[in-house]
Amino acid sequence: MTSGSCNLKIPRHIAIIMDGNGRWAKKRMLPRAAGHKKGVDALREIVKACNEIGVKHLTVYAFSTENWARPKEEVTALMNLFMEAINNEIKKLHKNDVRIRFLGRIDGFSKNLKEKMVEAMELTKNNKRGNLNVMVNYGGRAEIIDAIKKIIDDKVPSDNIDETIFSSYLYTAGIPDPDLLIRTADEMRISNYLLWQIAYSEIYITKTLWPDFDKKELIKAIEEYSQRERKFGKTSEQIT
Ligand code: IPE
Ligand code: IPE
Ligand code: MG
Repeated sequence: MTSGSCNLKIPRHIAIIMDGNGRWAKKRMLPRAAGHKKGVDALREIVKACNEIGVKHLTVYAFSTENWARPKEEVTALMNLFMEAINNEIKKLHKNDVRIRFLGRIDGFSKNLKEKMVEAMELTKNNKRGNLNVMVNYGGRAEIIDAIKKIIDDKVPSDNIDETIFSSYLYTAGIPDPDLLIRTADEMRISNYLLWQIAYSEIYITKTLWPDFDKKELIKAIEEYSQRERKFGKTSEQIT
């Protein structure tokens, strides 16, 4: 840690809505796909930074259930980029003891891409240093519907259903809820992300576009998070 940051409270879990790739590209008169490509570089840096800082869980929004509605060329470019990024990054992630999970309706992807995702998850499943959850074909509402379907299929008696049981049916079962939710590119909305899990997350929104988000920006977000008083419904007096 750099000096002056010794009072930092390190979140156990950071979730990020990686937004602004298109605007980053537009500003440079580049195709949107160039922004997404640069976004992979930013993600690599942030995964490394989380490992260095000691953030155990990082959950990033890479493709929403609504993003299928984008122009066909952009969707294709994103699919190709996911494939390429897994191929290029997986060995290093594994070496760094990071467990990767692709969470969402991954059956919606091509057979090749799905197999690549499953392979990466298998390879890294025993890694312990850090956890990278990449939310793909993900929607918070879809996740809740999928959980309800599984609960019904498992014939769980309604009396047994509580928040803990319900959480265990989400894609994020076993992963603690995010402490800090970061959204880049200045949009003040949730866009169907982690609807259940962010019930008490601290929210940090920055104007910085995702391809420009780096370790310095991450530390800025953690600094702000460290100043927040998390009350979970209680009064300040009860917290201190
Ligand atoms: C986020 O960047 C990446 C994905 C949604 C896949 P955008 O592509 O949404 O970038 P903007 O919002 O158009 O700038
Ligand atoms: C959210 O960003 C999805 C991802 C970052 C993958 P969008 O760019 O799709 O969200 P909206 O459409 O601006 O709400
Ligand atoms: Mg966007």
